[in-house]
Amino acid sequence: MASKFDPNLALNLILPTQPRPNPQPSSTQIPAAAPAAADILVITGGNELSGHVPISGSKNSALAILAATLCCRGASKLNNVPRLADTATMAAVLSSLGAEVEFSGNEVVVETDRVGSAEPDAGLIGRIRGGFFVVGPLLARFGEAAVGLPGGCDIGARPVDIYVRGLRQLGAVVELRDNKLVARAANGRGLVGGRFRLDYPSVGSTQTLMMAACLAEGTTLLSNVAREPEIADLASFLTSTGARVEGVGTDRICVHGTRQLLGTEHTIMPDRIEAGTFMLAAAITRSRISLSPVCPVLLSGLIDKLLGGGCTISHERDELELSAIPRRSGEGLRGFDVRTLPYPGFPTDLQPQTMAMLSTCDGLSIVEESVFENRFTHVKELQKFGAKIHTEGSTAFIHGKGRRDKLRGARVSAADLRGGMALVLAGLAAEGVTQVSRMSNIDRGYESLEAKLRSLGADVKRLEEPNPS
Ligand code: EPZ
Repeated sequence: MASKFDPNLALNLILPTQPRPNPQPSSTQIPAAAPAAADILVITGGNELSGHVPISGSKNSALAILAATLCCRGASKLNNVPRLADTATMAAVLSSLGAEVEFSGNEVVVETDRVGSAEPDAGLIGRIRGGFFVVGPLLARFGEAAVGLPGGCDIGARPVDIYVRGLRQLGAVVELRDNKLVARAANGRGLVGGRFRLDYPSVGSTQTLMMAACLAEGTTLLSNVAREPEIADLASFLTSTGARVEGVGTDRICVHGTRQLLGTEHTIMPDRIEAGTFMLAAAITRSRISLSPVCPVLLSGLIDKLLGGGCTISHERDELELSAIPRRSGEGLRGFDVRTLPYPGFPTDLQPQTMAMLSTCDGLSIVEESVFENRFTHVKELQKFGAKIHTEGSTAFIHGKGRRDKLRGARVSAADLRGGMALVLAGLAAEGVTQVSRMSNIDRGYESLEAKLRSLGADVKRLEEPNPS
């Protein structure tokens, strides 16, 4: 029985399963991510959206599970992997270690038996945060690892101190040298289970330490861990490879180390951040759309806020419908306050898109960003649409335009993934034409974005970057 995302796991129920026999890969093929698309998106705003949008597999879950294949012998087959710049980069990271990776559509087969290096290509790691997660599996598998410091969205300092302290608690000697984290098992053999309390419920360090602990000698107890659903999806994958992980979804995870894990088949969970983004696209354009597959319980923070703002939301099985069409003429959406927090709090990855939507609502809204210290780069771009936003430290004050007037089309630049998507949403609602440049930052996290927007009735098209001369 192959494993797939089980929302109950996010609600901390553990259902151990038997490992599957290995599927045989044919050859190594890593297609480049979506061909280097034109880097400008032109949006003619004002269209009401309608129809249904399919939600892709989760980027952040796929990145962690691709890293986790390194914990296994043999081949793993992953279904529902989104075709994104980031997943292609992650596949290239695995390939740089000697793994055989084959993409076909949204399926990826990773064969790790020929992995012979514990030092991935640093250039690739420098492109995405998720690439750094391989330090856990490599150290556990080889007793050593040398991994370049991660890249990813420039939304804060994003240190790796919790990873370092956690790996030391698992019996590793760890130092930062030449922009790399260099680690080896102190006993010259392998990691040893231990107790570690994370200073902050960091997603990446929880995932990395959980993977490392799976192959450590003895039991590891991690406390104050992150509880994001992507961690439950990773645990579901690891469990089906033979790992013994307990407590996922709570603030304590217990891992009983195992000598060997075997490749398996797993289906990546739907992307709750992509789903939330499309819900906000419907809200900002005062539209009604449906989307699936969605697990509403994983988006309760956003759903509660949008209901409070005047949207109607219904869901049946894994399909959700949102309507922001005014029930009475002249009725507007009310603003609301948000404070981003680790799961189950309001997701920081939906903060910029929510801010864009709030700039069109009635009244004052206050948004506090408590997870990352530099995640307001989109504010000055939103102001170009005429949005009335000012910030004080990690708090933004949004004076919604309400029904009096609309955002106006603008030329803006996507500095990072979610901040960039906020600009696309503003462009959909704005009067006139918007040009969003540096779309490659958005391509990192949204699969087939134009096709999905066009299928909902949006007027969007890609343009080649005009040559500067
Ligand atoms: C993951 O990043 C996601 N990325 C992020 O999504 C997401 O915003 C974030 O979790 C929070 O939900 C991936 O899964 C690839 P953290 P991660 O470690 O793991 C501090 C997107 O848009 N911290 O939970 O890097 C850190 O600086 C991306 O898809 C330390 O201080 O996030 C931050 O302030 C953006 N020391 C806070 O913890 C450490 O050693 C949360 O970071 C590690 C983290």
